[in-house]
Amino acid sequence: MDFPFAENYKIKMVETIRRSTRDERETWIRQARYNLFNLKSEQVFIDLLTDSGTGAMSDRQWAAMMLGDESYAGASSYYKLKDAIKDITGFNYFLPTHQGRAAENVLFSVLVKSGDLIPGNAHFDTTKGHIEFRKATAVDCTIDEASDPELIHPFKGNIDLEKLEDILRSNPKEKIPFVIVTVTCNTSGGQPVSMQNIREVAALAKKYGIPVIFDSARFAENAYFIKTREEGYANKTIREIVLEMFSHADAMTMSSKKDAIVNMGGFIAMNDENLFKEASLFNIMFEGYVTYGGMSGRDMNALAQGLYEGTEFEYLNTRIGQVAYLGKKLESYGIPVIKPSGGHAIFVDSLKFLPHVPREEFPAQTLAIELYIEGGVRGVEIGTLLADRDPATRENRFPKLELVRLAIPRRVYTNNHMDYTASALANVFERRNQIRRGVRIVNEAPILRHFTAELERI
Ligand code: F0G
Repeated sequence: MDFPFAENYKIKMVETIRRSTRDERETWIRQARYNLFNLKSEQVFIDLLTDSGTGAMSDRQWAAMMLGDESYAGASSYYKLKDAIKDITGFNYFLPTHQGRAAENVLFSVLVKSGDLIPGNAHFDTTKGHIEFRKATAVDCTIDEASDPELIHPFKGNIDLEKLEDILRSNPKEKIPFVIVTVTCNTSGGQPVSMQNIREVAALAKKYGIPVIFDSARFAENAYFIKTREEGYANKTIREIVLEMFSHADAMTMSSKKDAIVNMGGFIAMNDENLFKEASLFNIMFEGYVTYGGMSGRDMNALAQGLYEGTEFEYLNTRIGQVAYLGKKLESYGIPVIKPSGGHAIFVDSLKFLPHVPREEFPAQTLAIELYIEGGVRGVEIGTLLADRDPATRENRFPKLELVRLAIPRRVYTNNHMDYTASALANVFERRNQIRRGVRIVNEAPILRHFTAELERI
């Protein structure tokens, strides 16, 4: 008999969660102005809003926290983290920041200026926000295959080399401060980038004298996919693959809240001492002194430990196995999801799920609201609301895909929670033809509007 899937951990501490009634949820979501970010966490039964900062730390991470050194300068926790980052990524210099977007803010303060172009694979919203805030432009060079939800392709996060070279060839070098590669590519469905693509992108960028930066939030999950999908990597360890990945990058930004399994934290790492020195000034201004940068000593200790745990094969197999489990369950109910399953989340194709809701009425947001009302499950819209308006025309931008992301926190929920989530979505799917109208925006911020927008039902 084959062994069924089993987690590579057991549970030492639990937190009670409460199921609510449908009536309660109808009231709460109305009070939240139909924006799931406005819900109180106790109004949510299963929270799949994000896998960011929502993971469960291990006993070893908690133990490491007790040994935190809270010295302002030169704390041992800083050196412990510096050693772990060198060990895992190979980078010699690093700056702690309080989270990933802070790393972007510091690094882009050095590198990005008005009028610049930054090519990459479907930049994450905060990355794009920090680029556009500086009046520069993020140019999406993801392969076309990524926008076909049905298409099975092992590396849908890959960069199209022709699209990239087009940008590099037709613009002056001074206008392109770097190419950014997001591993895995959250926006295109948590899809990985192959080692071959990383290698080719780096070679192309080098040919034009342009540095490569990795947005590394889910670098370990990317390495897992390389190991399990790319020829020649099956016998390499995750850590070997990670080192090889980063050997092609000049610098990295990191949201430690994902693959380093901590609740808060981030960093920048690089080999160029000058870049490190320039970035240090901004780090001191925005984040904190260079040996803590927005993190407490105990948090740096937990992060150092988390980097090792997050790059263990057994852990990744458990984690990505659970995401795939939910994906398969949804597919078995006929629910349209992006294929193959992503590393950290399942993305539901809302255009197929709710074909009657016009795009102007935010079908993915509408589906996220329906799923919440149905079962108290909180997902997040990755569609027109998230895409913001075009900074020049102020028109809504309609991305190719309109998705609801169900992001799975690390080491938090069991597969019973996945079954529950799948049933809730299946119930909405059964009544999909009665859902014909969506929502409209009543209030929105000029940038990153999805966090605070107020909506009403049409
Ligand atoms: N880059 C990627 C690919 C991300 O997914 C995120 C955050 C960031 C950068 C920014 O990091 O949140 O620590 O400031 N993604 C979260 C998510 C918010 O839900 O996908 P941060």
